[in-house]
Amino acid sequence: METITLGKNGPAVTPLCIGTWAWGDKLFWNYGNGYGQEQLQAAFTAALEVGITFFDTAEVYGLGLSEQLLGQFIKQTQQPVQIATKFGPLPWRFSGQSVSDALTHSLTRLQLERVELYQVHWPFAFFLSQETLLNTLAHEVKEGRIAAVGVSNYSADQMREAHQILAAKGVPLAVNQVPYSLLNRQIESNGILATASELDVTILAYSPLAQGLLTGKYTPETADIPSGARKIDPRFSKEGLQKIAPVISLLRSLGEKFDRTPAQVALNWLIAQGNVIPIAGVKTVAQVRQNAGALGWKLSDDDIQELDKVSRLEK
Ligand SMILES: NC(=O)c1ccc[n+]([C@@H]2O[C@H](COP(=O)([O-])OP(=O)(O)OC[C@H]3O[C@@H](n4cnc5c(N)ncnc54)[C@H](OP(=O)(O)O)[C@@H]3O)[C@@H](O)[C@H]2O)c1
Repeated sequence: METITLGKNGPAVTPLCIGTWAWGDKLFWNYGNGYGQEQLQAAFTAALEVGITFFDTAEVYGLGLSEQLLGQFIKQTQQPVQIATKFGPLPWRFSGQSVSDALTHSLTRLQLERVELYQVHWPFAFFLSQETLLNTLAHEVKEGRIAAVGVSNYSADQMREAHQILAAKGVPLAVNQVPYSLLNRQIESNGILATASELDVTILAYSPLAQGLLTGKYTPETADIPSGARKIDPRFSKEGLQKIAPVISLLRSLGEKFDRTPAQVALNWLIAQGNVIPIAGVKTVAQVRQNAGALGWKLSDDDIQELDKVSRLEK
């Protein structure tokens, strides 16, 4: 499979990443209710079978359980796997040592000696300065416990600052992980996309299927209510679903043209933006296989423009 370099000279990864927020998370996704470890292990194996070896997790997902499950699954394969995880700048963490300790705990749960990518989960770091945090991460790159450093949910200015601090230590900023999909295109107008391209920072697009909405399986006509916290999300209400109907309808008709599903078209559109790797959250083998079908083909320029137009109306 084709690979993409993270940032300027980071690790080479697959053009689609598997998101594992739901792996072990009860609070938002209702883990244990309708899906569990066995199903997730099968999804992990299916990803490797179709050649997708890049997984995104975080220490906070399932309060450590996402990393722990991934660690167990990785132990049972010989295939190389690339893991991106995240550091939570929690209020009681204010020293470089606390950053290194959090990394140690993540590596222990993952049963790994190093991760491909270590990202700062969000930009507010309470009493921990960006200098202390990022200098520690640069040090961990030199120690070999991290291959590349990333940030998440950073604005254009925050990304520029992080880039400068790391550059002073000779370490590039590899990624900014932010929300990006046909239903959330803010990074195109708030400077994040342009700054990432200028600084050679790869965009990891989270919630690329708008948490399932862009699969087209939730419609105003069916009472198919999603599980977990999405139940109270207005985007999943009848009115919310009616609002996005034009986008879903175009995804469907483009899907028919290419013999693909709406989810595959939505992910293909994101990849077509360039310098963007979607992180699609999955729970089942079928979802992994379907999302992998977003790779290996291209929407035409006209199709991309049509999607651009219809989704702009949704902003
Ligand atoms: N850095 C951050 O702050 C941050 C925030 C959010 C997410 N993330 C990362 O981004 C990843 C993805 O984001 P996300 O989980 O919020 O949203 P997403 O990828 O847009 O949606 C994932 C959900 O959509 C449904 N789905 C996925 N593929 C499908 C398919 N082919 N057919 C039908 N349904 C499908 C599944 O839920 P159902 O089957 O239940 O509908 C799945 O859990 C996360 O796992 C995490 O790694 C990071």
